[in-house]
Amino acid sequence: MNVDFSKLQPYVPFILTGIWTTLKFVFVSALIGLLLGTVLALMKISKSRLLKAFADGYTSIFRGTPLILQLIIIYYGVPQLTGYDMPEFLAAIAAFGLNSAAYVSEIIRAGIMAVDKGQREAAQALGVPYRPMMLDIILPQAVKNILPALMNEFITLTKESAIVSTIGYLDLMRRAQIVGANLYRNFEALLFVGLIYWVMVFIMTSIGRRVERRLRQSDIG
Ligand code: ARG
Repeated sequence: MNVDFSKLQPYVPFILTGIWTTLKFVFVSALIGLLLGTVLALMKISKSRLLKAFADGYTSIFRGTPLILQLIIIYYGVPQLTGYDMPEFLAAIAAFGLNSAAYVSEIIRAGIMAVDKGQREAAQALGVPYRPMMLDIILPQAVKNILPALMNEFITLTKESAIVSTIGYLDLMRRAQIVGANLYRNFEALLFVGLIYWVMVFIMTSIGRRVERRLRQSDIG
């Protein structure tokens, strides 16, 4: 068997730096996704037909086309249309942020809808105005449905992030490919970053599970 991990050693710091490069843009993308996704979710449950149609159309487009296509369109399209030479990082957070917003908007919308209708009716029957009804009654209950799903979205983004290697962003995946090319052997570097991705996702899953357990506890109490 032709496997030799010792050749990888000089490249280990280079690969490990990729954890930060990857997490940095996943984090920023998730934040954009969360903010934009919340706005879109509010549009979806609003009474305005126009806002609803816009948010639905947005979601349909971003969920209905491959993320890698969105990324590449932004990376090559923006320079062609505007003359602005897009840095890889910006293209990455734009594509992932815009894409994630579509998914997050559905998570939040569904989370709000899942709160029993009776809660809303009871609040209205008691004459609670819209804002306190949303902020103090509906949303705290919706968070319970939303938070675990959001955690999932973050994990998905982390794994999908490997796609940015295609535009040359120096994330974990790209670094493994570069090291593989330098060494004329790919398996070791790829396996190494595979392990890193798995550990990252494992940690996030554990955190997610803990959060979920907390939420369930407060349910009983
Ligand atoms: N592989 C899917 C695609 O190419 C993943 C989309 C990203 N998913 C997400 N939850 N943000 O479209």
